[in-house]
Amino acid sequence: MIEIAFAKSALPAADALVLLVEEGSGRNGATGEAWAAADDATGGAISRALLAGEFKGKKGSTTTILGPGAGLSRVVAVGLGKLDELTPVLAEEAGGYAVAALGREAAAAIATSGLSPMLAAHVAFGAALRSYRFGRYRTREKPDEKPRLAKLTVLAAEPDQVAAAWVPLHAATEGAFLARDLVSEPANVLYPAELAERCKALESLGLTVEVLGPEELEKLGFGALLGVAQGSAHEPRLVVLQWKGAEAGPPLAFVGKGVTFDSGGISIKPAAGMEDMKWDMAGAAAVIGLMATLARRKAWVNAVGLVGLVENMPSGTAQRPGDVVKTYSGQTVEVVNTDAEGRLVLADVLWYCQQRFDPRFMIDLATLTGAMIVSLGHDFAGFFSNDDALAAQLVAAGEVTGERLWRMPMGEAYDKLIKSDIADMKNVAGRPAGAITAAQFLSRFVNGKPWAHLDIAGTAWASKDAPTVPKGATAFGVRLLDQFVAKHLEG
Ligand code: BES
Ligand code: MN
Ligand code: ZN
Repeated sequence: MIEIAFAKSALPAADALVLLVEEGSGRNGATGEAWAAADDATGGAISRALLAGEFKGKKGSTTTILGPGAGLSRVVAVGLGKLDELTPVLAEEAGGYAVAALGREAAAAIATSGLSPMLAAHVAFGAALRSYRFGRYRTREKPDEKPRLAKLTVLAAEPDQVAAAWVPLHAATEGAFLARDLVSEPANVLYPAELAERCKALESLGLTVEVLGPEELEKLGFGALLGVAQGSAHEPRLVVLQWKGAEAGPPLAFVGKGVTFDSGGISIKPAAGMEDMKWDMAGAAAVIGLMATLARRKAWVNAVGLVGLVENMPSGTAQRPGDVVKTYSGQTVEVVNTDAEGRLVLADVLWYCQQRFDPRFMIDLATLTGAMIVSLGHDFAGFFSNDDALAAQLVAAGEVTGERLWRMPMGEAYDKLIKSDIADMKNVAGRPAGAITAAQFLSRFVNGKPWAHLDIAGTAWASKDAPTVPKGATAFGVRLLDQFVAKHLEG
């Protein structure tokens, strides 16, 4: 991650300077000492350039002035829109746009005077989030192809206050980067045992990490999870991460789908796009990234994160369409389609989570259905809940973080669709309402607890750059749930 530093507003010694410009006011809307100092030092070159370029400070607009003088290699102006309409998300986006416009600069300063310390910290947050890159497997990159930005100094009137506001956001950045790394890894590298190892390494943050293998899962009776895993050469794992940040009380519980590769199994997927199914563990990655965030910022809560890790493969040992499995709850399932594997994994993990922890609530995250993408596309994640208060808090956290949620309906009429002729239920219904019938299936493994299910199939991976999320793994859910915990469950 790039280094984020804080300093008193002044003309920076750095090579590049970012100016945040309020829409339509003042000296081209930019304010503060750094701005004035830079403009004066360059003999007014910056204000002339912004005027000539008709730069108005509209949100999302940027303009770059190369070599304006005074030792500055470039000045980037980033529009903030109207200051009284500036939200944390918009501040983050401005930070993201700044990083995108900095090009090949190695170090830059960003002037935030006029913003509250909280908003200035969110500018840094957005800048850090946008700077993410998964470069692990690029071995032939020329130096001038590698990203260079290493340090960003936030210039503020009260740098100590901004630095303090940055501490929890720094933790969330690390958590999101961990999730993005895990999601980006190819499935030949990141199989269940390896993902479990990466979880184990988080003990250094103060988390307790337990790993259960196939023998233990067999003994417990995880028939649904094991049925999915049985076609793969890679053994399954269940990882339980615990964070104890409070004295007592039932923990919050987060559950993630961790299918390290989803070929579909015997109900095999078409070849086109199958490579995407390396990220079918994004729900698990979000849970892991969240737990790491809570530990790093020493959140005042008790939380558990459970991730069910399997690979879904076709083979001579794979489960067949029509097989009947017995879940950990005792309920039986007719596996009509082996590609509806995520719900089978979650069924056992959700039940285990309740039995063992009697949590305050459970929130699961899963790249569960293509139908969710058909419903909402890539901007909102769909979610389902049996608890209106929990649902409202999640929606609110989505608005605050920009990881937005849209609640979907559930009910008896949908539940009927998963009746089976041979078992207690089947794992698929027809095409209609595919995301909902998947949620109905999960709800049969929720035993009266407040629960929410986030189907992140459409939001876990981005096919193009967004202001704070470069193309690729998004870590959707980490910021959302960190905010939800901070706002509603701490203190
Ligand atoms: N992992 C997929 C869902 C998915 C598809 C996520 C595309 C992201 C992008 C899930 O396991 C799956 O295969 N679901 C099936 C369910 C169907 C067989 C009822 C689907 O959505 O097609
Ligand atoms: Mn599948
Ligand atoms: Zn899947």
